[in-house]
Amino acid sequence: MMILRLALAVAISAYATAQPASTSSLVTYIFGDSLTEVGNNNYLQYSLARADFPYYGVDFSGGKATGRFTNGRTIGDIISTKLGIPSPPPYLSLSQNDDAFLSGINYASGGAGILNETGIYFIQRLTFNDQINCFKKSKEVIRAKIGDGAANKHVNDAMYFIGLGSNDYVNNFLQPFMADGQQYTHDEFVELLTSTLNNQLTTIYKLGARKVIFHGLGPLGCIPSQRVKSKTGMCLKRVNEWVLEFNSRTKKLLLDLNKRLPGAKFAFADTYPAVLDLINNPTHYGKYRKKKKTFAFALGVGYPNIPKRVENIYF
Ligand SMILES: *[C@@H]1O[C@H](CO)[C@@H](O)[C@H](O)[C@H]1NC(C)=O
Repeated sequence: MMILRLALAVAISAYATAQPASTSSLVTYIFGDSLTEVGNNNYLQYSLARADFPYYGVDFSGGKATGRFTNGRTIGDIISTKLGIPSPPPYLSLSQNDDAFLSGINYASGGAGILNETGIYFIQRLTFNDQINCFKKSKEVIRAKIGDGAANKHVNDAMYFIGLGSNDYVNNFLQPFMADGQQYTHDEFVELLTSTLNNQLTTIYKLGARKVIFHGLGPLGCIPSQRVKSKTGMCLKRVNEWVLEFNSRTKKLLLDLNKRLPGAKFAFADTYPAVLDLINNPTHYGKYRKKKKTFAFALGVGYPNIPKRVENIYF
């Protein structure tokens, strides 16, 4: 999926800024939603946000669905390959005291958001707060294995990739049957998101995270579930303006955290312009095939009536 490659380039350059050191034994922790999930929801029996059936995974090694919400690799997989390390396994696949706890973990869960209530109609998913709790438990396992000092160094030296917020729009604020869209203006909502994120990132810092890359949101006004709301199938300008507002507020938050928290190196990976250029100029990115097998991609989940004319562009 092209979006991932573009987002990757942005993330890697943010990474280079945040961490010039050797990457030989790099440990990574991934927090996110369906864009980065590698199979946690397979372990949640009642979750409706699933990607464990065809055609998910058809282009992935083995050709089978793994719980990734894509036909191929996720951004976490691609970044791991670029860094020369294995893609970290889903947290819920690890057994207690598994040695794999020492090699990086993926906590991402389809349907998850910054807010607890986001994606509630998927019944089960690991919200960002749940994912942070899972990281806390992981750290306890690591501490039991290698001791306090080594565990602290282990988590201080690791890289953290965080990408959440899309579902707070797509599966919360923009859903007419969810309370938040009724209750809050967008100004209030973006304030709620960034103040919640402030607490969450501070918690992750206190647990030992120092080098953190936060992936900003792409142009959500251009995904099929939003385009269907316009008569002509075009991107929703207002939604894209909201996303840009979220991105700029989050970028500022990360700068504030860097000033406030000693040793923090929080970076913002701005995927928005790269993804928008892909939408506007698909032919610049290789062969643009009109007729291709179509799959339900991340964030398209739950929206079966994706119109034909946009289905190959995205998600
Ligand atoms: C969200 O859930 C966490 C537990 O995961 C809880 O501690 C917190 O108070 C909840 N936040 C709100 C605003 O309800």
